[in-house]
Amino acid sequence: MTTKNARELTEASVEARLAELLQQERFAPQEAFAAQAEITDPEIRARAAADPTAYWAEQAGRLRWSRAWDQVLDSSEAPFYRWFSGGTINVSDNCLDRHVEAGRGDKVAYHWHGEEGETRDITYAWLLERTARFAGALRELGVGKGDVVGIYLPMIPEVVVAMLACTRIGAVHNVVFGGFSAGSVAERMEVSGAKVLVTADGARRKGRTAPIKPSVDEHMGPEAVPSLQRVVVVRNTGIDVPMTDGRDVWFDEVLEAADAVDPEPMDAEAPLFILYSSGSTAKPKGILHTTGGYLTGASTTHRQVFDLHDDDVYFCSADVGWITGHSYIVYGPLANGVTSVMYEGAPDYPHKGIWWELCERRGVTKFYTAPTAIRACMKWGVEHVAPHDLSSLKLLGSVGEPINPKAWLWYWHVVGGERCPVVDTWWQTETGAIVITTLPGLDAAKPGSAGLPLPGYEVQVLDAEQGGVVEEGEGLLAIPRPWPSMLRTLYQDPDRYVSTYWDRFGPTTYFVGDSARRDADGYTWVIGRVDDVINVSGHRLSTAEVESAIVAHPAVAESAVVAKADDLTGQAIVAYVTLQGGTDASADVEAEINATIADRIGKLARPKRIVFTQDLPKTRSGKIMRRLLRDIAEERDLGDTTTLADPSVVDQLQQRWQQG
Ligand code: PRX
Repeated sequence: MTTKNARELTEASVEARLAELLQQERFAPQEAFAAQAEITDPEIRARAAADPTAYWAEQAGRLRWSRAWDQVLDSSEAPFYRWFSGGTINVSDNCLDRHVEAGRGDKVAYHWHGEEGETRDITYAWLLERTARFAGALRELGVGKGDVVGIYLPMIPEVVVAMLACTRIGAVHNVVFGGFSAGSVAERMEVSGAKVLVTADGARRKGRTAPIKPSVDEHMGPEAVPSLQRVVVVRNTGIDVPMTDGRDVWFDEVLEAADAVDPEPMDAEAPLFILYSSGSTAKPKGILHTTGGYLTGASTTHRQVFDLHDDDVYFCSADVGWITGHSYIVYGPLANGVTSVMYEGAPDYPHKGIWWELCERRGVTKFYTAPTAIRACMKWGVEHVAPHDLSSLKLLGSVGEPINPKAWLWYWHVVGGERCPVVDTWWQTETGAIVITTLPGLDAAKPGSAGLPLPGYEVQVLDAEQGGVVEEGEGLLAIPRPWPSMLRTLYQDPDRYVSTYWDRFGPTTYFVGDSARRDADGYTWVIGRVDDVINVSGHRLSTAEVESAIVAHPAVAESAVVAKADDLTGQAIVAYVTLQGGTDASADVEAEINATIADRIGKLARPKRIVFTQDLPKTRSGKIMRRLLRDIAEERDLGDTTTLADPSVVDQLQQRWQQG
């Protein structure tokens, strides 16, 4: 095996090599990789397709069940599918106790790295001890089976303890990404009826300390979130924060005082967690995952896609607050008993080569990140990668948005030294686990295409008008067969679950919301969302929720938000705003609108550009023509505008846009 020495890389050498590689359509697994791969049976998909329920039962059988299931798949109330009915299982038992009992308690679960260079090695035994005691503490705080526990924490080991402790006693966690504002946490706590919130005094971000607890207090009083009884606070930064008597307790103190509890056998279909995600409306969707099927899907796909071996050191750069963090930082890796690297900080802090420094230092073998991060690394330059010895890497993964071939090739050449397969993994919060990708020891990858459905899954591209199957060509992505880690419903909103996912093609074919192209080899090329969901740096937002945050500003009359293609972030938010009479557009108003968005949703939802306008392009019936707004932002020809009530509006908008 030849190991490319990354130190020889220069911008010019990389450019030249990428120009060559762009000519290559397929990248077959390297012999050295294929020879050691876990999955080498070319018939694995066909075998799974012949009897999918038997295949999934076999995968579920790798987990430890306290009671075997009676039925693998119950479709009697489709689309409310049930998997492994009658079985009981506990997730924390599978992620922790099982490994410790097998004598693997000293194995490191996480090499945790703080942004100021601190490190903690968290073993499986340590995690078990903490989790069992924190589960006891939650019980003492009044949390029982089915109760919702909010988690709003930075990337620290306690976030894993809190999640697993919930699963140990059958509480349902509702994790909110730390980048969302306390206001949006409050909304998610209120709609899910959360009883307890686990949060921190503050978080560190790029050398600064941001208080969390004070903003939680501000947004989560008894009126705003009546269900919330207790707030557990992790002492993370050590800053002074107000604590409310009778409601707030310190994480370390309750943990110290509590007795360890055993894992509670849970029904396979017991709710495991809710994760709010953006849909077509301003109201986020509470995507509900359940116990047995989710763990089966997350652990199986993690093992297969990352070609896991016992000595792997796996590093997923996502945040635990997203589904990628749930499935591929916490549940998949822990169920499979692997060692992971967990990094607290931003990819460019304390320097732009921190990920590669950690890969070198920990001997990372499998690395998983998002296209937007790869594009940022490309922009920062190879000099941040070149000093690091990345020869331990064996496989690279990508997730969250389509990856452009150039970024794919850069990842393959610069980071992977042309020896590591790149798996482009397509999935969603709703699917719980990876659905489409290449099996790294078996399938050739085509840069820009996610690849083929994993074993046990079926994926189709359907004609948008007729609904027929498109063998080769473009259409709507659909999954015509249930799978274990699928969402079960939208929390407390079953009607929206049915209307969002199952109305379009009927109760047996899941409507994904993406458009895609299927090529002659059956590879899927995801094009993008067909609804009003936007994907900024792999973060999912809805145009409606950004609009509703903007119009919350008292000076705003109306707003229309669209996504514009962006070289770095995939898509970027552009907001067109009309102001109330009497208010003039100014830098101050713009700053205030941005502050309103940051407060209501989070800084990640601030538009790249706000365009103030007298009017929005509307049809004669008053409907805003978003297509035109997108065309203006992407500087395309506008075509026919005669259906507009006032065609002159778009000319003015185009001029505004060009003025910058
Ligand atoms: O449009 C697809 C895109 O991200 C959407 C799902 O977003 P979310 O639920 O936040 O989950 C992201 C992490 C799994 C999808 O509907 N998407 C995700 N992965 C890919 C992708 N688009 C193209 N290629 C991918 N690999």
